[in-house]
Amino acid sequence: MKKISVGLVGVTGYTGMELTRLLENHSRFELVRVTSRAEAGKKLADIYPFLQGMRYGDIVITEPDPDDLAAACELVFLAVPHKTAMEIAAVLLERNTRVVDLSADFRLRDREVYEHWYKCQHTQPALLETAVYGLPELYEPAIRTATLIANPGCYPTSAILGLYPALKNAMVDTKGIVIDAKSGATGAGRKAAVGSLFCEVSDTFRAYGLPTHRHTPEIEQEIGAIAGEEMTISFNTHLLPINRGILSTIYTTLIKDMTLDDVHALYEEAYRTHPWVRVLPTGKLPETRFVRGTMFCDIGVVVDRRTNRLVILSAIDNVCRGASGQALANANLMCGIDVQEGLRLAPLMP
Ligand SMILES: NC(=O)c1ccc[n+]([C@@H]2O[C@H](COP(=O)([O-])OP(=O)(O)OC[C@H]3O[C@@H](n4cnc5c(N)ncnc54)[C@H](OP(=O)(O)O)[C@@H]3O)[C@@H](O)[C@H]2O)c1
Repeated sequence: MKKISVGLVGVTGYTGMELTRLLENHSRFELVRVTSRAEAGKKLADIYPFLQGMRYGDIVITEPDPDDLAAACELVFLAVPHKTAMEIAAVLLERNTRVVDLSADFRLRDREVYEHWYKCQHTQPALLETAVYGLPELYEPAIRTATLIANPGCYPTSAILGLYPALKNAMVDTKGIVIDAKSGATGAGRKAAVGSLFCEVSDTFRAYGLPTHRHTPEIEQEIGAIAGEEMTISFNTHLLPINRGILSTIYTTLIKDMTLDDVHALYEEAYRTHPWVRVLPTGKLPETRFVRGTMFCDIGVVVDRRTNRLVILSAIDNVCRGASGQALANANLMCGIDVQEGLRLAPLMP
């Protein structure tokens, strides 16, 4: 079967590295361009020795030239920082190359909200109309026909999937929801920064970004759409001394007289046809290590009758499910390929 040529802008970042890993085993996509300004001219195996002798080890890294990418690729993954992605996406789409953007540039439908939270001008507002939010469990039909995918953020992926059944079934108060989220250090990207140094991250545990983490409006936008009303949440983020993984503990208040079994049954029903979301048996709680390197989102639910709280726990791998794996799932759907292609991944066990 004819291969589909794809490009990857930002191959030296953590999400670019993960996409390279996943594309090694993809039967329909052929990676024909990988870019980095710092490493242009080198072979991939020069910077990633683990690719030596593998399918893409000899591919030569190029400068990120949108015209060259558009000429060579039918679809391009943008694994670059926000603000950079919107400019490249515009050129690619103009030249009929489809785009999966892993940055935040097209996730917020309201330009003013984007400009407020990201402190920069949105130069491609027309594309906000056409971008599809790439969460397959919620938007699969629209993803299939999209030319531009706004790949969800990592924290939002865990929070939205955790809250979806509760809000869809109007189980909980839409006010006063607290999302207490923790991420591994790859979430901050691979660029050098003091806060990401080993001695700053290991053997400690700290909160950061309170109360203005940039993923707040993205979560509010999407859970508001599920609930059918504007929502405001408390979203609190923490840095875990691990490489990859997110665990979100979500505190809600039940507004229906429901037992744990009632809640659990509705969660199972909501994800019955979505195998990547695993609703754990009652009494079991998710862990980051059991989703490591996979597309799984493991969800556990707890009903505390004394406080009338429904506590939802949601674990994902930030780099795979929260970024590159999800991007590949979206590309599969856009190209009419089985959504699971290249993504039948068992957890990387310790
Ligand atoms: N890390 C995560 O867990 C995660 C999860 C979800 C979403 N995301 C999003 O995914 C995107 C990539 O994240 P990351 O963690 O992989 O970042 P990263 O580790 O910092 O890597 C960024 C990549 O973009 C390239 N780049 C930077 N500035 C560029 C520019 N002006 N033009 C072209 N290329 C440029 C860099 O290579 P050169 O500088 O050599 O060109 C590098 O390869 C970000 O928007 C991030 O917010 C990340």
